[in-house]
Amino acid sequence: MGTPDKVPVGAHVNHANPGRIVGAGPAGLLLGQLLHRNGIDNVTLERQTAEYVLRRVRAGVIEQITRDLLDEAGVGGRMHSDGLVHDGVQICVDGVRHRLSFKALTGKTVTVYGQTEITRDLMDGRAAAGAKTVYAASEVSLHDVFTDQPRVTYRAGGAALEIACDFVAGCDGFHGISRKSVPAGAIATHERVYPLGWLGILSETPPVSEELIYVRHPLGFALCSMRTPTLSRYYLQCSLAEDIDAWPDERFWEELKPRLDDEARERLVTGPSIEKSIAPLRSFVAEPMRFGRLFLAGDAAHIVPPTGAKGLNLAASDVRYLSEALIEHYADKSDAGLDRYSERALARVWKAERFSWWMTTLLHRISDNSFDHKIQLAELDYLFRSKAAATAFAENYVGLAY
Ligand code: FAD
Ligand code: DHB
Repeated sequence: MGTPDKVPVGAHVNHANPGRIVGAGPAGLLLGQLLHRNGIDNVTLERQTAEYVLRRVRAGVIEQITRDLLDEAGVGGRMHSDGLVHDGVQICVDGVRHRLSFKALTGKTVTVYGQTEITRDLMDGRAAAGAKTVYAASEVSLHDVFTDQPRVTYRAGGAALEIACDFVAGCDGFHGISRKSVPAGAIATHERVYPLGWLGILSETPPVSEELIYVRHPLGFALCSMRTPTLSRYYLQCSLAEDIDAWPDERFWEELKPRLDDEARERLVTGPSIEKSIAPLRSFVAEPMRFGRLFLAGDAAHIVPPTGAKGLNLAASDVRYLSEALIEHYADKSDAGLDRYSERALARVWKAERFSWWMTTLLHRISDNSFDHKIQLAELDYLFRSKAAATAFAENYVGLAY
């Protein structure tokens, strides 16, 4: 093992090694930046290279809580100048489009700003602040998290390293090692796997609509989204066994068109894709989210199917609670926030799980049972006719219902 990596002491902190963050996705980068700005030193270990992390196209819709945290982290500038503020969303049911206005129903909006851009802004902010991220760190392993002095071992640049710290934040996503390091008896998991995936493409074409269109159709779910006025993001429901090579761009567009309404079909501009990927749909929660001095945050602790656009926003809300609690620990010498972290985070997580599960079952073709289809249509009809139902939907989508 190499010598312990002594990290410069943060401005308001008396500890040599306050925190280790595993995973440099949005949760890890955001937590690191918020802690750094509050004088709490931390090092982030990431399995992949920075370029690889930046190539992963995922979330597109962010709530107020995520916007606020990016501002607090000092990296919100580009989000404000380039992000697209959306007052509402559209839902197309069997060729007929309906609009739900968040602004009218809740006074709130969401912002369309890609996860890759958020990641880039956080990476730049971290580099400008001189905070340390170790990319391409392999064999990351956690030790002694139930003691006062956890340790993290890893390999980087050919060297084996061991570092001691006060806390470990497990922000390493669903497939990371943090959650898997917890003894089986200390953790409960709850899961639903859907027999579906999303096949997504990014294309340098103007979006088909100024707002997102979620599509329910007998042929299956589709989503028309965007990144900028000249960059579109589209998704199609696909089977889990789907082979991406069997999806040339022409096939994607041909499968999308019949699911749209006439106006959208006419406006649709097709073109070559610049990215194409398949994501499985899963609901998953691990409880609790704290194990001694290890705190899980983001996809490491919970997964939602993407239909409700909640995953990144939940990661941000975990980070808000965890950063506040760690700041309180160092500034006020109080562990009240750390002790409440798991309970606070899970209360929000379960509401987002419910909403994401509901939106998924409402809009996808999950079974061939005509009863299930009729129930979907009845529920959608209620959503468009009832102000109470529409308000509940809007409150959940913008993140107010938690
Ligand atoms: P991740 O982004 O998974 O980051 C974890 C990091 O940890 C990764 O960089 C990984 O390489 C690293 N890591 C893993 N294992 C290790 C290890 N052993 N050692 C070190 N590092 C490790 N969310 C929304 O809010 N809105 C949306 O519109 C939305 N749309 C989505 C669309 C799709 C198609 C998909 C797939 C997801 C979408 N999401 C959306 C969800 C969102 O992308 C995730 O919830 C978000 O990325 C979670 O961030 P995270 O930092 O917790 O995890
Ligand atoms: C996008 C992804 C989502 O999961 C969603 O619900 C809305 C938009 C997107 O990638 O643009």
